[in-house]
Amino acid sequence: MNIPFFDLTRQTISLQEELDSAYGRVLKSGRYIGGEEVERFEHDFAQYLGANHCVSCANGTDAIEMSLEVLGIGPGDEVILPAFGWISGKHAVQRAEAIPVFVDVEGHTGNMDVSLIEAAITPKTKAIMPTHLYGKPCAIVELRNICDKNQLYLVEDCAQAHGAEVEGRKVGNFGDLSVFSFYPTKNLGCFGDGGALVTNNGDLAESLRRLKNYGKDSAGSFTQPGRNSRLDELQAAILNVKLSYLDQWNSRRKEIASSYSTILSNNLLLDSSNSVNYQFVLNHDQREVFRSHLAKSGVSTELHYNFILNSSSEFPNAAKLSEQVMSLPVFPELTTQELSYICEQLKQI
Ligand SMILES: Cc1ncc(COP(=O)(O)O)c(C=O)c1O
Repeated sequence: MNIPFFDLTRQTISLQEELDSAYGRVLKSGRYIGGEEVERFEHDFAQYLGANHCVSCANGTDAIEMSLEVLGIGPGDEVILPAFGWISGKHAVQRAEAIPVFVDVEGHTGNMDVSLIEAAITPKTKAIMPTHLYGKPCAIVELRNICDKNQLYLVEDCAQAHGAEVEGRKVGNFGDLSVFSFYPTKNLGCFGDGGALVTNNGDLAESLRRLKNYGKDSAGSFTQPGRNSRLDELQAAILNVKLSYLDQWNSRRKEIASSYSTILSNNLLLDSSNSVNYQFVLNHDQREVFRSHLAKSGVSTELHYNFILNSSSEFPNAAKLSEQVMSLPVFPELTTQELSYICEQLKQI
């Protein structure tokens, strides 16, 4: 057996006709930037999430940078972030000349430890920016309450959690602004880069539309220094096809995750209840034993992540996770036979 960590060609092949027709539609239209596909995607994705506005953009990192900009976060402001996760949030804060203030994460989920947040708030704090890591929602209701109590903005990083829910509401509805990435391997991904911002605040949506489009307002005047950050028609057409499969793919991810969970003892698992299983992560102080056995058996694994966002000793859980986590294949097109084979190998270890 040779089992890849992710094989996107399988999904593409299974949707070939629909994708060909979507691409064909765009190519024939002659309109490749800012057309019906983008409009439809923004409308349908907002509706899927139950949110008022979706503003598409070029990628998830741009979405984070633009969220900080429209919230007026700049030099000297502090933004509270988890000490473990992807690097984009940290870099976006630094590029805004603001200060990233890290808090440790929970050892059993990798998500921000809410009990540590109030101690990190200072008069300079402007926002909290949590991630729903690996598809598992963080304690977003508690974070919303802390933000309301302290008059802080909440920017939800949903780049790993398309479709995840908390108390019956999709993530993306709790932040003042929420960001998504449609990088190809995400639960909802396109064939290149893509991103979006979601909000229930019409003024913020308007500001974002200006910012991402050269600073041009709806009357056509350039009212501010803007940038160019757009989702193109081809990517939007792909996302329009794929959006209708998202729940089905998330269910398959859950099935795969529960197969792994039933054979792994609790001390090897992160809590993935109500997760959309962007990653299935094993947590063990001898992960190399697992990795090398699986590699020899032809099963690819990855490390998400083997670094932390701040190397100070204040973040023991982040440090431990960076040394212990490893991700197993969990893409929806993994076959039953491949899944059984991986489970067999895990049992042997
Ligand atoms: C949590 C998180 N935030 C932001 C991003 C950045 O998204 P993009 O790669 O589309 O810029 C990613 C991408 O992997 C991510 O996982």
